Amino acid sequence: MIIGVLNGPNLNLLGTREPAIYGSTTLSDIEARLAEVARSLGAEVRCAQANGEGQLIDRLHAWREEVAGVVVNAGAYTHTSLALRDAFSATALPFVEVHLSNIHAREPERHRSLLAPVAIGMVTGLGAYGYEVALQGLVRWIRHRAPGASAP
Ligand code: DQA
Repeated sequence: MIIGVLNGPNLNLLGTREPAIYGSTTLSDIEARLAEVARSLGAEVRCAQANGEGQLIDRLHAWREEVAGVVVNAGAYTHTSLALRDAFSATALPFVEVHLSNIHAREPERHRSLLAPVAIGMVTGLGAYGYEVALQGLVRWIRHRAPGASAP
C-alpha cells in the first residue's frame, strides 16, 4: 500500500519556522520517520510539499491512481481552500488531516478547517509525532474500514 504525504505552504521551513509553535523537527526528518513507520506497517510513503494551492491540487490529481490515501498538512490552506477540499472529494482519496499545533487553541481564524468535513479524521497539537499517528490511523482505516474491506 502506498500512502501520499502532502505538506502545504511554509512547511518546507519546519525546523526554523516559529519553533516555539511548530518545534525544531525538519520536514525531511518527518518524512524519513514516516518512511520507517510505513515500512513497519507493510506500506510505503510518497512525500510532496508545495507552497501553491494549485500545485497541491495537481499533486492530488497525479496521485489519484497511485496512492491509497493521503496524510495532509495543508498549512494555512486548511482554513481557506474550498478548492483543495473539492480536490479530495473529486479524487475520492481518503485522508487524515494533521496539524503540528493545536489549531483550536490558536487564533479564531485557525479554528475552522474546510477540509475536515470530508476527512477521515484530524490529528492536531501532537507536533511531528502527529504525522505518525495520522499514518497509522489512515493505514488501519484503509485496511479495515474502507468500503469493501474486511471488518476490524
Ligand atoms: C498548521 C496550522 C495552520 O494554521 C498554519 O497556517 C500552518 C501550520 C500546523 O501544522 O499547525 O501553516 O497547519
